[in-house]
Amino acid sequence: MKEEILELEKRALGEIGSTLDPSELETLRIRYLGKKGLLTSMMKKVGCLPPDERPGVGKLANLVKKNLSARFKETRDSLGSGRVDVGTTFDVTLPGREPVYGHLHPITLVIKEVCGIFTRMGFRVVKGPNVELDYYNFEALNIPRDHPARDMQDTFYISENVVLRTHTSPIQVRVMETRKPPVSVIAPGKVYRRDSDVSHTPMFHQVEGLLVDRGVSFGDLKGTLTSFVRQMFGSRTRLRFRPSFFPFTEPSAEVDILCVLCGGKGCRTCSQTGWLEILGSGMVDPEVYRFVDYDADKYTGFAFGMGIERIAMLKYGIDDIQLFFRNDIRFLRQF
Ligand code: PHE
Repeated sequence: MKEEILELEKRALGEIGSTLDPSELETLRIRYLGKKGLLTSMMKKVGCLPPDERPGVGKLANLVKKNLSARFKETRDSLGSGRVDVGTTFDVTLPGREPVYGHLHPITLVIKEVCGIFTRMGFRVVKGPNVELDYYNFEALNIPRDHPARDMQDTFYISENVVLRTHTSPIQVRVMETRKPPVSVIAPGKVYRRDSDVSHTPMFHQVEGLLVDRGVSFGDLKGTLTSFVRQMFGSRTRLRFRPSFFPFTEPSAEVDILCVLCGGKGCRTCSQTGWLEILGSGMVDPEVYRFVDYDADKYTGFAFGMGIERIAMLKYGIDDIQLFFRNDIRFLRQF
């Protein structure tokens, strides 16, 4: 029996030595020294030995028990309460590392700001599909078959009748198709054009606005967009409505703001004109109402669309549109 006890001690010591985890160590301790532990049950058998063997074996068993208990305690103290990996020295005096917080991309920030301004004026945010039917992207917007925008050079075609939307205006048609006036919606989203250089990216963002009701006038358009521009760029911002053309609005106007860089004196950014174009707009063309079954004699409305990257560049003074898509963390951290 003495050999058995010594064998058990050897095994226990080996296992203690290879334990790295306090809870694992405790399990081990219970297995050997617990009430039903291996050593404990062996000690219970000492009473069944011939009387002359008992004292010697008993003494040895007690010694082993003391020995193992001490080893368990020692090991527990050295492991501490945490987990320690092999070969790792852990400096508890090192200061902690601050967590790095993420934040919204500048484009997302501007979309939120634009939509915020319009929702406070009573517009509702709506969305439309990025992969769009030719019908909504062009046809129902009165963009004829031979319009240059329909050229394969400018538009990404999925198939003959399906495109990646080239602007957010198809959302106007989808909204009017499903709702009767009065409607006032604001629709942000990605748009796609086959363009890529210092000032163009094949995907960029637009926000579309549409308001249709009885008696809506060009004055309402001017008032709404003036209020928007002043909230976005500051209450003193000077702006102008410049006559323009879009197949789906009549009359049409583009909105310019006084160049934020030179203050109207003329510089490279504004091509020496002193003005910067920021959005397209106009009164919804009655031709469009025909496609959505609106009564053009009863209702009038206005629509507008703006490029978000452009607004963001002017607002933050960024001169390269590609920066928004490069995901350089040093650039993004600034917002
Ligand atoms: N969709 C036009 C564009 O992408 C902008 C626009 C929207 C113009 C609504 C007028 C009315 O250029």
